[in-house]
Amino acid sequence: MPWLSIRRRLLFNMCQRIIRNPFLCFNILFLTIIIVILTFRTSNIQQKCSLDQNIAQQQNISYKSSLNKPVIFIGGMPRSGTTLMRAILDSHPLVRCGEETRVIPRVLNMRAAWKKSTLEWNRLMAGGISESMIDSAIRAFVYEILLQHNQYADVLCDKDPFVLKYASYISSIFSNAKFLLLIRDARAVIHSVVTRKVTITGFNLSDYRQNFKVWNKGMETMIDQCTLVGKDKCLHVYYEQLVLQPKKTIENILKFLNLTWVDSVLHHEELVGKKISLSKTEHSSDQVIKPINLEALTKWIGHIPDDIKNEIDTLAPMLKKLGYDTQSDVPTYGVADQLVLSNMNNLKENAEFWDAKAKAYARHLPNDTSLFQNHTNN
Ligand SMILES: *[C@@H]1O[C@H](CO)[C@@H](O)[C@H](O)[C@H]1NC(C)=O
Ligand SMILES: *[C@@H]1O[C@H](CO)[C@@H](O)[C@H](O)[C@H]1NC(C)=O
Ligand SMILES: *[C@@H]1O[C@H](CO)[C@@H](O)[C@H](O)[C@H]1NC(C)=O
Ligand SMILES: *[C@@H]1O[C@H](CO)[C@@H](O)[C@H](O)[C@H]1NC(C)=O
Ligand SMILES: *[C@@H]1O[C@H](CO)[C@@H](O)[C@H](O)[C@H]1NC(C)=O
Repeated sequence: MPWLSIRRRLLFNMCQRIIRNPFLCFNILFLTIIIVILTFRTSNIQQKCSLDQNIAQQQNISYKSSLNKPVIFIGGMPRSGTTLMRAILDSHPLVRCGEETRVIPRVLNMRAAWKKSTLEWNRLMAGGISESMIDSAIRAFVYEILLQHNQYADVLCDKDPFVLKYASYISSIFSNAKFLLLIRDARAVIHSVVTRKVTITGFNLSDYRQNFKVWNKGMETMIDQCTLVGKDKCLHVYYEQLVLQPKKTIENILKFLNLTWVDSVLHHEELVGKKISLSKTEHSSDQVIKPINLEALTKWIGHIPDDIKNEIDTLAPMLKKLGYDTQSDVPTYGVADQLVLSNMNNLKENAEFWDAKAKAYARHLPNDTSLFQNHTNN
């Protein structure tokens, strides 16, 4: 760069004229150049740093800064009232659950598979992928999905039936998570799976025997997980009690969740399409548009094959353990509240209105069904 050398020579000559020491002049010039270069570079680095900081701060807003929000996980075997439960909680002004995320149980399942395989786990550890690194990445993923899906609600909530299988792990990465385990008579669950043709991994639409076994295994795991995290973090919610005595049952649930009572939780149907959004690919949407009712309580009666009835305590011992009457063909679940009886009247008197509404929310699959066939995988 000739202009630089000319200028340097000029400066050098000027300096020599003033100081009359060529060596000192050379040093001064050299130092000046170094200082100029350094100043320029530092300001550049500072700029870049503050840019990175800005990005980090923006990212912080989305999850780290609010990492302590309470999170509710609603689970249980599919067809056990998990959608009704989440619609009820969605009616609380502080909570938002929303539709099934589907990705949360899958990510938890994937992490469980890594951990289960000694070979894979050892490879991860040997490769410098530590357990705490995995935990914090899983936590970030789950939290980010919940935060954005729940529109930054005060109390986050996830309804994905199979999350309950991972309750103790979730509890270890979310210190303020609480769990609601929905429990429902297996006979009603299986009748619903079969008649509504819900495809769930493990269930077979024409094999009652297998379905009871699968239900039993799933319930065993979830009850165990619930016990592991403890009574203060995991609550058993019986579907039958929820629909028969909603006030008492929901009061108990809100107390457990440390949420104040609001009357809107008894009238979730008024918020459907407003605060409550329902997915047209979920099986229960056309049921939870209605006020809390008893329509699905005893539909199964008279539809369980005789041979299965006789074997029920061996096929699904959990049913009796959970307090269900497995001997009676027509078990009673309890007395219905006046509110529920008047809801039933409303449904009968305005049948056309409710049928039309149910049709509007009927399950409607996207055209490429291959991607959406399975209601819940794992
Ligand atoms: C991110 O949030 C944490 C916790 O609130 C805070 O300690 C940290 O300084 C924040 N980082 C940035 C870059 O804002
Ligand atoms: C759906 O589940 C069946 C097993 O019930 C499985 O074979 C199939 O691959 C699953 N499909 C998708 C798209 O996940
Ligand atoms: C479901 O059960 C029926 C009857 O037991 C059997 O024939 C069929 O192969 C089963 N289907 C699957 C996918 O396992
Ligand atoms: C319950 O919520 C109140 C505020 O709504 C809070 O002050 C209190 O610490 C909470 N209690 C528990 C046990 O989380
Ligand atoms: C799906 O199929 C229906 C009828 O077969 C058609 O009217 C609609 O345009 C299709 N939607 C898409 C996104 O392809």
